[in-house]
Amino acid sequence: MSVIPPDSPAQWAAYYRLRYEVLRQPWHQPEGSERADDDAAATTTHALLLTPEGYAAAVGRLSPAEPGQGQVRFMAVHPVWQGRGAGRQILEYLEEAACRQGFTELVLHARQLAVPFYERLGYTVVAPSHTLFGSIPHFLMRRQLVGERVDTA
Ligand SMILES: CC(C)(COP(=O)(O)OP(=O)(O)OC[C@H]1O[C@@H](n2cnc3c(N)ncnc32)[C@H](O)[C@@H]1OP(=O)(O)O)[C@@H](O)C(=O)NCCC(=O)NCCS
Repeated sequence: MSVIPPDSPAQWAAYYRLRYEVLRQPWHQPEGSERADDDAAATTTHALLLTPEGYAAAVGRLSPAEPGQGQVRFMAVHPVWQGRGAGRQILEYLEEAACRQGFTELVLHARQLAVPFYERLGYTVVAPSHTLFGSIPHFLMRRQLVGERVDTA
């Protein structure tokens, strides 16, 4: 399986469906809440990992934050695929895109349960951030990009 930018209407539908099912539906959020205003911006990079059958296994996106800094958001892996390297594949794809786009640093707001995943991939907690839906603590995390990915395996 390889990561692609969603392209066809079916791929976009699968992309947003997975975002919704993993990141919004379990907290009874309305459909549409999985979308962000800057999703359509030319500067936003979307990543989709498709199964051979054409289902979305994992998604994520990258967008500009401060000058020289990119932000990763909406990382979601289908429950069946969690713990099997799909999240790593998406994040590495976005990191490579970030390097190509000239970012020297990536930041993200990690759900508490996802902090160990990002730490494994070389990110460091900077500070606690917001609490989503009144129940999901987040932590601001950061990773310096040095032109080429440092192997964390
Ligand atoms: C968090 C999430 C994106 C991680 O993706 P994943 O596909 O499950 O993780 P991977 O299998 O790619 O894991 C990559 C590495 O991180 C490690 N890792 C993942 N989760 C971990 C955890 N909770 N604790 C410790 N290590 C963890 C894996 O062991 C693996 O290490 P390895 O390469 O040495 O084997 C995914 O589980 C998910 O979508 N969770 C629900 C939604 C969510 O929390 N999204 C993030 C919002 S900020």
